[in-house]
Parts: sequence; C-alpha cells; structure tokens
Amino acid sequence: MEKKKKGEDKNMGKVAIYPGSFDPITYGHIDIVERSLEIFDKVIIAIAENADKRSLFSVQERLQMVKTIFKDTPNVLADNFKGLLVDYVAKTNAKVIIRGLRATSDFEYEFHMASMNRSLNTHLDTLFMMTSKDYFFVSSRTIKEVARLGGGVEGLVPDLVVRRLKEKFKLPVKKKKQISWDD
Ligand code: PNS
Repeated sequence: MEKKKKGEDKNMGKVAIYPGSFDPITYGHIDIVERSLEIFDKVIIAIAENADKRSLFSVQERLQMVKTIFKDTPNVLADNFKGLLVDYVAKTNAKVIIRGLRATSDFEYEFHMASMNRSLNTHLDTLFMMTSKDYFFVSSRTIKEVARLGGGVEGLVPDLVVRRLKEKFKLPVKKKKQISWDD
C-alpha cells in the first residue's frame, strides 16, 4: 500500500508549505499563515532543524509553540524537517512554498533560495508574500535580541512566546539605577 503523505486526506485541496526557522514564531509569521489560508486549503508550517544555525529554542520547543498557537486552526499543520526542503516537500502533497518578504534586502537571499529549490525540483514554485506594514520591522533575530536585553516584545509575538523568551533569558531583575551627573 502506498504510504500516506503528510496532511493527506480525500478532500485535502491545495496545500502549501511555509518553511522557516521560527526561532521563535512572530506575529509577522502568523500574519503570513493567515493570509496563505485565503489562498490554500491547508498550510504546513515546516520548522527546519538547521545544524549550521545556532537556535535559541530547540526544534521541539519551537514545534510546541507553533502547535499551541494554531491548536484551534485545523487546516494548519506544524511539523519539523531535517535536510533539504525539497526532499521534505516531496513527502507532502504541496506544490508551493510560501515565504514572507519584509524588504528589498530580503529579496536577494530569497531569490537565490527559490531558484535553487526550483532547480532541484522543477515542479515546485515559491510564492512570496509581502509582510503586513505592522510587522515590517519584526524578525525572530531582533525579537531575541530585544528580549535578551530586557526590552518588551509584547504585541510582536504571542503571549506564549513572550513567556518562553522570559524563561530562556533568566535575566536577574536589577534595580534600576538612576543616572546622575555625579556618577
Ligand atoms: O526562517 P529562515 O531561517 O529564513 O528559513 C530558512 C529555511 C529554513 C527555509 C532554509 O534555510 C531551508 O530551506 N533550509 C533547509 C535546507 C535547504 O533545503 N537548503 C537549500 C535551499 S537553498
């Protein structure tokens, strides 16, 4: 019997893969997922286990956050993968990869990645979506930096992620020292 592909059922409809590190997931990512659901019947959020990239959260922690955030959205499936994205996509019924674009500076990297993926699998397309204006400045990298330095990231990531960031960066609660000209 042929092995069932990820997310496969009789009325599966159009499936898209939204791959990324999601370290951690932000409202920018969530906005892309929600808008993708206007076009596709199912979206698989595919969390990359990238050995080259040092991540703050383990892949299991990232997966758990994504699963919790989308627990009431049955047409969003969260999964993780190792190795080439095209090999992962081949195990699913998706033909489209979704990527969010924040600025023209993202474009070069994304263009190379999409071209490489298409040369590896000519049946695959990458669909780029412009990030909503409210999240143009939001990236997992800056979220981590701000959180590590004790800044507020509420409103940019879900509350669950805010809590997980606070747990990760067990920052000592320092008494604020007033800066005085005599110091
Ligand atoms: O959120 P990110 O870190 O920008 O996502 C990048 C990601 C995970 C989509 C990309 O690194 C990827 O696809 N990695 C899997 C390995 C792979 O297929 N590499 C070849 C693409 S050029």
